[in-house]
Amino acid sequence: MTIIVTGGAGFIGSNFIFHMLKAYPEYRIVCLDKLTYAGNLSTLAPVADNKNFRFVKADICDRTAVFKLFEEEKPDVIVNFAAESHVDRSIEDPEIFLRTNILGTAVLMDACRKYGIKRYHQVSTDEVYGDLPLDRPDMFFTETMPLHTSSPYSSSKASADLLVLAYHRTYGLPVTISRCSNNYGPYHFPEKLIPLMIANALNDKPLPVYGNGENVRDWLYVEDHCKAIDLIIHKGREGEVYNVGGHNEMRNIDIVKLVCKELGKPESLITYVADRKGHDMRYAIDPTKIHNELGWLPETKFADGIKKTVKWYLENRAWWETIISGEYQNYYEKMYGSR
Ligand code: NAD
Ligand code: TYD
Repeated sequence: MTIIVTGGAGFIGSNFIFHMLKAYPEYRIVCLDKLTYAGNLSTLAPVADNKNFRFVKADICDRTAVFKLFEEEKPDVIVNFAAESHVDRSIEDPEIFLRTNILGTAVLMDACRKYGIKRYHQVSTDEVYGDLPLDRPDMFFTETMPLHTSSPYSSSKASADLLVLAYHRTYGLPVTISRCSNNYGPYHFPEKLIPLMIANALNDKPLPVYGNGENVRDWLYVEDHCKAIDLIIHKGREGEVYNVGGHNEMRNIDIVKLVCKELGKPESLITYVADRKGHDMRYAIDPTKIHNELGWLPETKFADGIKKTVKWYLENRAWWETIISGEYQNYYEKMYGSR
């Protein structure tokens, strides 16, 4: 079995590669990644010498490079993690989100049509459903809900999902889609909530909470997401969408306070800043389908996962300090400087 993992030098893709090489030592895993600001080759150092692993630097929008790789590797399965993934960046500049997240998906699926594959899996997000009101705790995202996006990021992901389903219906491409809630864990890029708060707290810098901090996200440990994708590509039904989430809703402010507590830092570092434009209020996944059909359940409780995550950032300072000392400083100044 040969699997092409796109975006494997990013947060979830790298964790997926580690999981797959460990769970299936006989599989060949080929990572295709453009190494944008969010991709980091050093993340893949632990598997660089594995004889069943290959890294290829390429853009999923580059038809020639993608088709060449398919010719060389004759993959059985494609798992597409490659994306522009940060909502705040999409609000500043949507175009690259449309290019990578929509066109890139089409290029990958065109290669699948031409060369033939057993499965194309699209890694999507719960953000395609839009948001839920805070005063309706009985409401959850189900797979049959209409797509109702808020940000350029989520709109680009929803567009890609529609294209994936269209390639299934029109060309019979064997596809699956997973829509997961917010992930956390090792190798999470420091622009995102949890790693940003950990890095800032460790540097005794202000902890910028958007709006009133009452927005709710449904957090899942990254390894549990990887195990869900593993199950879907092996046992999921073609043409189906699977929601992935662990019933772990938390308010942003409570996450930030927990990070302070875990690191022994004062809550006085918390600073309320201007809200995100179009800020989604609440995400909450109903994972009944993946549980009933594939037996998936999250294994890591949030209380344990956050401890493991904080420990990882403490033990791997070089990884994130290298990132935040570079171009990231310009990004941080632009986004937070006068917020
Ligand atoms: P990330 O930003 O950490 O990593 C993205 C990776 O894709 C990087 O390695 C980057 O170099 C690569 N990439 C970007 N553009 C590319 C291109 N044109 N060609 C090839 N490679 C390219 O993202 P992540 O958090 O690991 O998310 C991975 C996927 O999971 C995304 O599709 C995202 O929408 C989805 N997702 C993320 C979350 C989350 O909480 N992080 C939740 C649900 C779904
Ligand atoms: P983020 O990690 O960007 O994920 P997403 O927007 O995809 O859910 O943000 C998680 C939540 O944290 C979101 O409600 C925005 C909020 N947030 C802050 O309050 N401050 C920050 O500095 C960041 C990055 C996010």
